[in-house]
Amino acid sequence: MAKKKKTGKAKARIIRHRSRAKAGETLTQKVYINGKLLEKDNAKISIFDHGLLYGDGVFEGIRVYDRLIFKLKEHIDRLYASAQAIMLTIPMGKRQLVDAMIKTLKTNNIKSGYIRAIVTRGAGDLGLDPRKCRDNATVVIITDNVTLYPEKLYKDGLSIVTVPTRRNIPEAINSQIKSLNYLNNILAKIEAINAGVEEAIMLNQDGFISECTGDNIFIVKNQRLATPSVYCGVLNGITRGSVIDLANKAKIACGEEVLTRYDLYNADECFLTGTAAEIIPVVKIDGRIISIGKPGPITARLTRDFQLLTKVDGVRY
Ligand SMILES: Cc1ncc(COP(=O)(O)O)c(C=O)c1O
Repeated sequence: MAKKKKTGKAKARIIRHRSRAKAGETLTQKVYINGKLLEKDNAKISIFDHGLLYGDGVFEGIRVYDRLIFKLKEHIDRLYASAQAIMLTIPMGKRQLVDAMIKTLKTNNIKSGYIRAIVTRGAGDLGLDPRKCRDNATVVIITDNVTLYPEKLYKDGLSIVTVPTRRNIPEAINSQIKSLNYLNNILAKIEAINAGVEEAIMLNQDGFISECTGDNIFIVKNQRLATPSVYCGVLNGITRGSVIDLANKAKIACGEEVLTRYDLYNADECFLTGTAAEIIPVVKIDGRIISIGKPGPITARLTRDFQLLTKVDGVRY
């Protein structure tokens, strides 16, 4: 019997069905833009948006562990604080924004993953003047998976280098502002990549350690944990805060200090913290092997405690 030719509509249905089956439960990814959930390919904003033209906007990256949004309040508060610092009005309240995030997570059937919340100044003209961005700021929420480094590096540790590009001075752009302009960090990242490693240590204007391009840095010396003070020009990382809390609970001494490269080279252990990276050990800095060149016991202990924390601490949806 001759097969009946399928109509365009039937074909489209089959393709949709197949793509659902192939990707398990994953439907086409939807992105939230100003109150609407749009298919990824149709999620577009104006090319006159000052977020694109000037990096004029703020963002947050948040992790979700098995339907628990980790440190949600801290991330939301930081987003609104960044916006306040650049005189950007987020056109919705915190509760409304959280509801939009949860809706986006549920629509994309994300159980564990990552939320990127972005607020841009909105569309204006080609000049810098933010007053020309007359419509409300643009609010974008993307939910997805994120893997910053391969699993092997969590086991074996990272090799990192200090780079020539200095961290922005707070009087120019305060490191607490998570702005859409990451060029300072990107230049440092390029220098790390050129040196054949994955991550860069940025010094501040005075030559002291500040942070890495997307992570905070910690060392352990004589059973004591130390991380650069916020006044050294570092982002007051939320993972950094969690690690300090965990160290206090575990009765591991911990201080916010002024650190030099010498302190790093002579550390017993070193690791980085960040929402995307979580906790990753460092075993080599500027060609110097740190201690025995293997992730250390305090790093392992804090990593375990952090993993346990992500299972219980968070807002459930
Ligand atoms: C420059 C910089 N430092 C540190 C961090 C780590 O901060 P958090 O732990 O809040 O993700 C980030 C991540 O956003 C960052 O971009």
